[in-house]
Parts: sequence; structure tokens; C-alpha cells
Amino acid sequence: MADLDNTRETKEFYLKIPARKEAFFLKGSGALDWGMQDRLARIFQPQSGRTVMLAIDHGYFQGPTSGLERVDVNIVPLAPYADALMLTRGILRSTIPAASGKPIVLRASGGPSILKELSNEQIAVDIEDAIRLNASAMAVQVFIGGEYETQSVHNLTRLVDVGNRYGIPVLGVTAVGKELTRDARYLRLACRICAELGAHFVKTYYVEDGFETVTASCPVPVVMAGGKKIGEKDALRLAYRAVTEGASGVDMGRNIFQSEAPWAMIQAVRKVVHESMEPDQAYDFYQTLQHERREALAHSEA
Ligand code: R5P
Repeated sequence: MADLDNTRETKEFYLKIPARKEAFFLKGSGALDWGMQDRLARIFQPQSGRTVMLAIDHGYFQGPTSGLERVDVNIVPLAPYADALMLTRGILRSTIPAASGKPIVLRASGGPSILKELSNEQIAVDIEDAIRLNASAMAVQVFIGGEYETQSVHNLTRLVDVGNRYGIPVLGVTAVGKELTRDARYLRLACRICAELGAHFVKTYYVEDGFETVTASCPVPVVMAGGKKIGEKDALRLAYRAVTEGASGVDMGRNIFQSEAPWAMIQAVRKVVHESMEPDQAYDFYQTLQHERREALAHSEA
């Protein structure tokens, strides 16, 4: 039996202090259940309301693309700088140390390779496996206007149903096929369809003209996909414009892991996304990190 001799008798109920009522920080996510909000708050930093996701899922249809030939060598050292990793369960189980503690956005659709019709995807992960892997979200590609548009939309809605059942958010990824125009009008359509059908956040590309109308008309957070490799300064400018025009962060792949200095690039992207650092300044920061690394290497070899 517990010792009752020293039990404190006085109690303080702070009757004059109203109970805290904190609104959840992410757009359109206030009505979600606690587990869902908890997972989103692991992916998006509550301080900035934004995220830097590192996308390395390209192999699910492209195989070992440049920069991802050896995820253990090239990507694992970058993980500490990412807010979340977007990847397949195969790379997760085989290559990512569980002790890295990173929130996982699990690629949950797939099927065709680059040799076939890409929109012909199906759900590629069972919800039980996503739970077993402690996924913070599941990602599904949606091909609006694509040949298998309806099938890909059904993949999204089925994942949203199971995600809602178990408290795991779903990321709707708007695919841009070879034959589809990438403009604000198309992206507004694609993002809005994903959100209307239940996606908890949406990933899409940046467009110069009207991106703010894409984010404004999407009721849930939008993260920007990096797209094909461009110069580092241009990629930082892209990230800056995206967050300034309403994106809640980036989910960037090639512009980080195909950079000349990926570790410096991801840190510069963080400055832009979380601190709204201007692109020129972030590029200087990138170059400084690169210079310091070269100096350190030269010293260690001397
Ligand atoms: C492609 O379908 C994958 O979902 C990638 O995660 C996505 O394209 C983002 O990577 P990147 O910045 O290389 O475009």
C-alpha cells in the first residue's frame, strides 16, 4: 500500500485560468482526429507551419535513377536535414535505419514502369503494412486527365477511407503526364479534386503564372514537388516563390540529391522554407557550406 503520511492535501485548480484552446496550425486540418494531427505535426514543423520533405521514391517506376543508385551512401547522410522522407517500403526496410527517427511518407501506389502507361497504377501497400512501418502518411499518385484517371482517383479515395479509419493522413500527388499541360488551370483542377475527395495534403508542381491561385483554391496544405534538375540558385528561387505564394513547404527530390552538394543544398532549402530566407542569400549559404566542406577535406588530407 502506498505511504499516505506525506500526501499533499492542498489542490490548485487554477479556476481563473481558462482552459487552453489551441487551433491546429495546418490549413483545413482543424477537424481531424488527434492521431491524424499528431502525424501531420511530425511532417510539418509547428513553428513554421512548413515542411522540407526529401522525395526519394522515384525508383518505384524509374529504377535506380541518377543520385539514387546507392541510397545507403547518398541519401542516409541527408536524412537528419529532412523533416520527412518520402519513399517506398522496399527502400525503407532495406536501407533506412529505423533509429533515424524520421517521419515516413510511404509511397502507396505503383504498378507500371517508365516502359508502360504510367497512369495505370494501383494501391501498392496494405494498410496493415503502413501501420507496421509506423508511416506518418501514405502517398498516392493521381492522374487527372490521364488514361486511367478514374482508377487513380479510386486509389486515392480507397486510401483515404483506410487512412481515416486508422488515423494515417493521405498525400495526393498530382501527376503530370507527357501529354498534359502544366499550367495553373490544370493544377487548380487536379489539386482541388484531390482535396475534395479527401486527401489530407497535396503535392503539386510550381508554375510561374498563377501558383497562388492553386494554393488558394486548395483547402488543405500544398507542398511543391521539385521537378527536373535545374541550377541550385533557380531551385532555391522556385522553393522561395512556392512558399511565398502559399505552399506549406516542399517535397523535393532531384534538385537535392542530384545537386553538386546535396548536403549543402538541403540545408539551403531549409533556410528558404523555414526561415523565408531570400534565394540569393540561401545560395550564398549553400556556397559557404560547400566551401567549408572542401576546406575541411583539404585539411584532413594534408
Ligand atoms: C515522382 O513521381 C515522385 O513522386 C517524386 O517524389 C516527385 O516527383 C518529387 O521529386 P522531384 O523533386 O524529383 O520531382
